[in-house]
Amino acid sequence: QTPMVRSFFSYLSKAAWARNIVTKSSIFWRMASRFIAGETLADGIQTIKSLNSKGINATLDHLGEDTDSPQKARQATQDILEAFDAINEAEVRANVSVKLTQIGLGISSELCLENLEQILKKAQGYNSFVRIDMEDSSVTQQTLDVLRTAMKNGYDNVGIVIQAYLYRSEDDIRSLLSECVKIRLCKGAYTEPAKVAFPKMQQIDSSYDRCASLLINGALSLDCPTISSCGKIPPIPALATHDAKRIDYAKVYAEKVGLAKDAMEFQMLNGIRRDLQEQLVEEGYCVRVYVPYGTEWYPYFMRRIAERPADLLFLFPAIKLR
Ligand code: FDA
Repeated sequence: QTPMVRSFFSYLSKAAWARNIVTKSSIFWRMASRFIAGETLADGIQTIKSLNSKGINATLDHLGEDTDSPQKARQATQDILEAFDAINEAEVRANVSVKLTQIGLGISSELCLENLEQILKKAQGYNSFVRIDMEDSSVTQQTLDVLRTAMKNGYDNVGIVIQAYLYRSEDDIRSLLSECVKIRLCKGAYTEPAKVAFPKMQQIDSSYDRCASLLINGALSLDCPTISSCGKIPPIPALATHDAKRIDYAKVYAEKVGLAKDAMEFQMLNGIRRDLQEQLVEEGYCVRVYVPYGTEWYPYFMRRIAERPADLLFLFPAIKLR
């Protein structure tokens, strides 16, 4: 999308008045429910069961971000611990994704680390894995710092997300690979200034392919760890995109250099390109779908709409008819 469209939706995602209108409207909820499993943990587990039955693994996300009090950050942490219990109880093939600003990064790194370590400990008990989502560039370095401190404190069941639109990402991938960190590569979903991120889609796509090659080479040089048999621990490269050209590039490159299909995985968002998800499984690739649930779905939904504002057109039938 053009930067202007993105900026507009980015503004809306933070505007209380827009949140009020959207979250109270059944039309918008109907639209959002394409992406969101539902408002409860049970809804999330139900969606995962259905994905698992098609051979697709999942990563469960308790929606929420930019938490502004230590109590709320602790509550969100408790909710995430419960998500691990529910995954274990339901015996589904899923790990968990977490946003650090949900568990206190905006309040203090110490509080965030304390909460993250509780989550990592819980995950360890279940032999599971936590993926730290990447948020806007104002917290990139802090997010990486918290990840590294948790790893230094002995947790290895944690991975990170890198956004291809940031100029710094190739360097970040190189250092993270030298520390054996599992990396999810995405294009990037926030509005960023040209000072820190490629402004054009074509540049982002090229960066995505370069980063994917780095990850595939990295996996080869680290002896190609494969996805765990329980589907919870991912391999080193997780290529998160719905862009068929990026996926084809990665498939061809991995085959050329000899990285086995189970030493990488493709990831997509719940509700987007289900056809492609199933096609990749049929071709023998590992696929993981990001399953968000919870009441705090508004900013997540706005980022999805920002990626495809055309989805809103049905609200304006007169415009559509022209
Ligand atoms: P692109 O936007 O070019 O879309 C390619 C095609 O996908 C489109 O032509 C369309 O067919 C389909 N598509 C994409 N978005 C759609 C939508 N909203 N509705 C309908 N169809 C759509 N970002 C981030 O900044 N931090 C993070 O931690 C994560 N985490 C993450 C996890 C996973 C598993 C995925 C798949 C994505 C993320 N993202 C993310 C989001 C990511 O950065 C990016 O914004 C979206 O994936 C959209 O970009 P694509 O790579 O799909 O390409």
